[in-house]
Amino acid sequence: MKNTDAPIVAANWKMHPRSVSDAKKLFSGVKRTAPHLTHPTTVICPPDVHLGVLSENYSGSKIILGSQDISIHSDVGSQTGEVSAEQIKDTGSAVAIVGHSERRAMGETNEVVAKKVNRALEAGLSVMLCIGEHKRDEGGDYLDFLVEQITSVYNNVDRRFYQRMIIAYEPLWAIGGGSNAAVTPHVLHQTSGFIRKTLHKRVARGLGEETLLLYGGSVKRDNARKLFVDTKIDGFLIGSASLDADHFCDILGVVNEAYSEHYADDE
Ligand code: PGA
Repeated sequence: MKNTDAPIVAANWKMHPRSVSDAKKLFSGVKRTAPHLTHPTTVICPPDVHLGVLSENYSGSKIILGSQDISIHSDVGSQTGEVSAEQIKDTGSAVAIVGHSERRAMGETNEVVAKKVNRALEAGLSVMLCIGEHKRDEGGDYLDFLVEQITSVYNNVDRRFYQRMIIAYEPLWAIGGGSNAAVTPHVLHQTSGFIRKTLHKRVARGLGEETLLLYGGSVKRDNARKLFVDTKIDGFLIGSASLDADHFCDILGVVNEAYSEHYADDE
């Protein structure tokens, strides 16, 4: 995936749905709308077990498939229970989410995240690197936390790969709630500016503006517009609202419309 794919609306289905047939139904629901919209590039990240079947049944649907995680190990080997980036790529997927907070909560360190990012990039995938603070403190320590999450990965990745890296800013305190749980547009604007400045100053000149930056955390059909417009982000990573095809498609519609109104002329 690249810069010109903006705006992007990505679905993180997490450990849903229960069966292949439900996964197909949910995917078909998205497919009824997504390919007909001019703007958002739609990405679906189902559990790995559904990737092959969705890709076989729906190739040509203009929806990009991705995984929610990949192994730290490369290619093939005696790694019980692991799925490599190469295997994900072979399913027809183009992207991998790496470093989601729910995986970090299971013990994934910045070092592990950096290794996984490299595995994904070396296999030819794009990466959606998730970052986000647990809480906001008055003293601003959370900003150092974000800088560390960014630099610990970028400084261990070859520069030629930067163009395939997307950042998903997902503050933990905003994940998994109703539409009021999301960040305010004001906070999102400030934080996305901070992330872009960090990329520019601490990683590579100009990278801040070149990097696709998504927001995730309680994005719903009724807050999507105000979170998207004037907040310096390129789209969303969506959890719970992506499990209802109509709700997810409404968000695609909102981004399509808002992008056409506000940004399409800049292209
Ligand atoms: P949410 O999840 O949309 O349910 O808050 C976002 C995520 O965890 O990626």
